[in-house]
Amino acid sequence: MIFKFKNARQETENQVTDESVYRQRRELLKKMGYFGAGSLLASSAANAGPLDWFSSDDEVIFKTKALTFSKQTDDTQKQTPVEKATSYNNFFEFGTGKSDPVKNAQEFNVDPWSLSIGGLVEKPITLGLDDLYSSFELEERIYRLRCVEAWSMVIPWIGFSLASLLKKVQPLSSAKYVAFETLYDPKQMPGQRNRFVGGGVDYPYVEGLRIDEAMHKLTMLSVGMYGNTLPPQNGAPVRLVVPWKYGFKSIKSIVKITLTDKMPPTTWNILAPNEYGFYANVNPAVDHPRWSQARERRITTGGLLAQNRIDTLPFNGYDDVARLYKGMNLKKFY
Ligand code: MTE
Repeated sequence: MIFKFKNARQETENQVTDESVYRQRRELLKKMGYFGAGSLLASSAANAGPLDWFSSDDEVIFKTKALTFSKQTDDTQKQTPVEKATSYNNFFEFGTGKSDPVKNAQEFNVDPWSLSIGGLVEKPITLGLDDLYSSFELEERIYRLRCVEAWSMVIPWIGFSLASLLKKVQPLSSAKYVAFETLYDPKQMPGQRNRFVGGGVDYPYVEGLRIDEAMHKLTMLSVGMYGNTLPPQNGAPVRLVVPWKYGFKSIKSIVKITLTDKMPPTTWNILAPNEYGFYANVNPAVDHPRWSQARERRITTGGLLAQNRIDTLPFNGYDDVARLYKGMNLKKFY
C-alpha cells in the first residue's frame, strides 16, 4: 500500500495513491527539473492551484504491505489517525525534528534484514525479513504510547510477544536482562553520519529491559501498524513496544537482541542520566527535571484543537505490571 499525504505541518490530506500514478508523477517531475526544488514552489500559499501539484518537498509517500493478523486486544480510546502517527515521530537517526523521519527515511532499505538473538541463551538464532512476518502468529494490539515529552497516541500495532521469541532461544538462568540495538548504517541514516542531524547521540541507539519485563505478555515486537508493515519512520521492519514505559524504551529498527547478566547501557540514560533512568516507567508522580509528567497531550487528530490534555496514569494505565516493581522505590528507580 502507498500512503500519500502532506507532512506534519499540513496533515490534512490522507489519500492512498495508486503506485503507477505516483511513479509517473515522479518521472514527470524529474524530467521537468522540479525534483528537489519543491520547497520553492510550495513555500507560499500563493502557489496553490496548478503548481500545487508539483510540491514534492511537502509531500510524503511511503510504501507498506498489508499484514494478516488475529485481533487480540481492544482499546476503547480513540485511535490516533494513521497520518499523524506516521508523520509526527521521534527517530533521531533520521533527524531530530518531528517531521524529519517521515521526510528522511523514505529510501530506508530494510530488505535484506537480519535480527540476531544471542548472548546467554541455549539456542541463538538469526531472523531474516520474511521470518519476522511468518515465524510468529501476528496479533493486533491497540496500545497507548506515552512519550517522555508529555504527548501520547493510541496506536494499533501488529506483532508478537517478545516472550514467544525469547522462549525459542531458551534463555540461560544466568540471563537477567535483555539488550537491544538499532541498525548502525551511516550511509542510510543521516543522523549517524552527522552529529548535528542526529542530536549528539552516540549511535547505535541501544535499549534494555529486565528479563521479567521482557517476558511480560504486554511487551511486543512490532512489525506493523494500522494493518500494514511498519513504515520506515516508525521503525521498520521491527521495533519494540513496551506500553507502560516512556516511548524512548520502544527502540526502532532492531538488528540485535542480547541476553545478559548485566544491566545494559541505554541511549537516553547515557546522554542525560539525571533525566532518563533505565526503568522509565510512566509515572505521573515523578516529574522530569524540566517539566511535569502529571498530564499529557493526547494526539487524537491532526488538528491542534482536538489535542486533549488528560491525566497521565501510573504505568500508563497498565496496572498489571505494578507487581514487577513491588518493594522498589520508583522515585529512585525512575
Ligand atoms: N529508536 C531509535 N532507534 N531512535 C530513536 O530516536 N526514539 C524513541 C523511540 N525509539 C527513537 C527510537 C522515542 S523518544 C519515542 S517517543 C518513540 O520511538 C517514538 O515512536 P514513534 O515515532 O513510532 O511514535
